[in-house]
Amino acid sequence: AARPAGAGSLLGKTVTVTAGGTREPLDPVRFLGNRSSGKQGAALARAALDAGAHVRFIAAHMDIPAPDGVELTRVETALELRDAVHRAAPGSDVLIMAAAVADFRPDTNSDTKIKKRDDGTDPVITLVRNPDILAEAVQRRTEAAAGGGAARPVLIVGFAAETGDGSADVLDYGRQKLVRKGCDLLVLNRVGTSLVFGQDTTEVTLLSPQDSESVPAPTYAGTKMEIAHRIVARVAQELDAAVV
Ligand code: CTP
Ligand code: CA
Repeated sequence: AARPAGAGSLLGKTVTVTAGGTREPLDPVRFLGNRSSGKQGAALARAALDAGAHVRFIAAHMDIPAPDGVELTRVETALELRDAVHRAAPGSDVLIMAAAVADFRPDTNSDTKIKKRDDGTDPVITLVRNPDILAEAVQRRTEAAAGGGAARPVLIVGFAAETGDGSADVLDYGRQKLVRKGCDLLVLNRVGTSLVFGQDTTEVTLLSPQDSESVPAPTYAGTKMEIAHRIVARVAQELDAAVV
């Protein structure tokens, strides 16, 4: 049952959630994919439904079924996901980009199955960069507002899975990504403390552009469902604060 309107509620709000991993075709039977299970995105959709939102769920490949009760759009490739996001986002209060979007796609998609050749040469796959859908959504909002339109979605949430290395720690990489994308909230998965892909438990830090150096960013460990409720609670709080 939906929560009553008030703190933590998303009643009357439309939330677009992307989930799963995109697949980039090479030929009719092959693709380049990734290990995203879609579990975090599905949990976020469930948590948003629990809070009373109307949920537009844009699903790339998932290992689990899409949750019941969402407005479902299925996509395969990053370019299809991009179209679906840009159709859904301007009419949404919140955009949550939990999908694992392929950074690259093969420059050609053969109409026929790629066969082994007799001349001793093997095919070389050239990759081209996919658009950054999250950064585009932020840019489109800015342009709409500059043109006198509504600055929607009010809240744009990105995800990142990072490991630290010799030159910077996980938080530094997360903050850099937040700035680069221009989103309002970044859910930083700390890879290494627990494996993220396909696992049911994880640890995240919520980063926002307003973070001050002196206050540590909130970090939560738990199941993907528990974390989804934390993220949705934060989203509802930010929406409340954004209303004038
Ligand atoms: N994302 C996107 N479009 C892309 C790639 C990523 O919208 N082409 C979104 C993801 O859904 C996620 C966020 O951007 O919410 C961060 O994804 P990530 O892969 O961590 O960022 P990248 O900019 O691709 O950086 P990296 O080189 O570290 O993969
Ligand atoms: Ca990437």
